[in-house]
Amino acid sequence: MLPYNIHHVAIAVSDLDAAIDAFATQYGFEILSRERIEEQGVEEAMIAVGGSHIQLLEPLEPMSPVGRFLSRNGEGMHHIAFAVADIEAALEHLETIGVRLIDSAPRIGGGGHRIAFVHPTALAGTLFELVEVGNE
Ligand code: CO
Repeated sequence: MLPYNIHHVAIAVSDLDAAIDAFATQYGFEILSRERIEEQGVEEAMIAVGGSHIQLLEPLEPMSPVGRFLSRNGEGMHHIAFAVADIEAALEHLETIGVRLIDSAPRIGGGGHRIAFVHPTALAGTLFELVEVGNE
């Protein structure tokens, strides 16, 4: 299961178009995809940064999880996602050692990846996501 790589760092933004534009203009990053994920209440864009990504998240509604994050904290880093080869094995490992999970079973995230979130109280006050990447 180890080692993990960083798959993406997610940033909550209030204006996705403006943020995409700024990342492209200021740093010349390539925008890989943009999609609306109703289940998570976000529209997201993936930006290629070397072998990793920045994920921009704009809430679809103010009461969605990312919407509440934005109203509490303003724009900024929302979570860090680790790439895993086998998300069930990773979740089982974390559960076995008593780590508090937000998702005890995988759900489908951006790009059709299977994902799961780990509670921020589990480590460094930071929301971590696991992303199953297979052979990418
Ligand atoms: Co993410």
